[in-house]
Amino acid sequence: MKIKLPENIAAVESYKPGKSVNNVFEGLNLKRTAILSSNENNFGPSPKALEAMTEAMGKVNLYPEPSSVSLRIKLAKRLNTQPENLIIGNGSDGILSTIFKAFFSSGDELISSKGSFVAVNVMTKLNNIPYIQTEMRDGYKFDLDAIAEKINPKTKAIYLCNPNNPTGTIISQNALDNFVKKVPDHILIIVDEAYSEFANSLTDNFPDSTQYNLPNLITLRTFSKAYGLAGVRLGYGIAHEEIVATLLKVKLTFDPSIVAQAAGIGALDDDEFLQKTIANNLNGMRFYKEKFAAMGLKFTPSFGNFVMVDFGTEAAAGQVFEQLLQRGVFVRPLKFFQLPHCLRISIGTPEECELLVEKLEEVMVLINL
Ligand SMILES: Cc1ncc(COP(=O)(O)O)c(C=O)c1O
Repeated sequence: MKIKLPENIAAVESYKPGKSVNNVFEGLNLKRTAILSSNENNFGPSPKALEAMTEAMGKVNLYPEPSSVSLRIKLAKRLNTQPENLIIGNGSDGILSTIFKAFFSSGDELISSKGSFVAVNVMTKLNNIPYIQTEMRDGYKFDLDAIAEKINPKTKAIYLCNPNNPTGTIISQNALDNFVKKVPDHILIIVDEAYSEFANSLTDNFPDSTQYNLPNLITLRTFSKAYGLAGVRLGYGIAHEEIVATLLKVKLTFDPSIVAQAAGIGALDDDEFLQKTIANNLNGMRFYKEKFAAMGLKFTPSFGNFVMVDFGTEAAAGQVFEQLLQRGVFVRPLKFFQLPHCLRISIGTPEECELLVEKLEEVMVLINL
């Protein structure tokens, strides 16, 4: 191609279509399989969301509500806030992308931690934003003191992932209380709570960052995980109304689709599905912890719907990944999360969790770790 690209875009590695997740086991002749690689909800979508989407399909000749008013009104009631404090997007990563467009100018920097959500890494590169990353501490946790020390006149925003993907660790209530006090109010604090529904069920010490009511903090949440709607792309942000108004100016007018907006409205009525998902996650987490400990694995206490296991070296993690794949279990290698010696394993249905444990036990004996 003769068209010259900006250097930052040219430097980003192109997406190489390989095997799709739909055919990772092709040719392996397996009876039982489990996809445990993307922290999805393996119960499928919320049935009430599905019903609402089916109805909305009959209206796709129409444009969606430009700022998802109906969903914002419903969500505001649920969250005890105002629609003016909510932005709906094509997934929470759609909102993150809008934040980059709306708030960053050339020279602005973002601070976060190493070993956090890989999409942020990619977005900083695409937007030419220097990404300042501190080391993790105390067993794969965010080092908030180190982040506070990195604040400088170029800092535009700080990204916190709570619980953190892929480590599963949380920033505790006390730690977050102290941290937000240290951040000047001209710096945007982005708190990504994609797994908040799971964290709240796993600990009493998980802070709800919406409660600070700060003019410079946005909380990101999603329908992708607990509500099983990753494929329709629906997420939301909760923030001061001026932040929301700014993001609404910048976002693509008709995001998200009429089907996605309907899905969200349906999902919010589906408490039964949400509770079933949370209960399954509690059981799955207990099961993984017990079995992983019995296998002598080094894993991080997690507050999401996944567990990160540290296999010591990239080679060992690679072997475990490959051998699990051969046996019908697909998990997530973490090279691009800067943790190449680890694998992240999602919590699936009870049968899938059992399959993972059975196959991991086999693999651990086979490769003699
Ligand atoms: C921490 C975190 N934030 C955001 C997302 C993406 O959420 P969404 O599907 O709403 O874009 C994920 C998905 O894995 C995630 O782990």
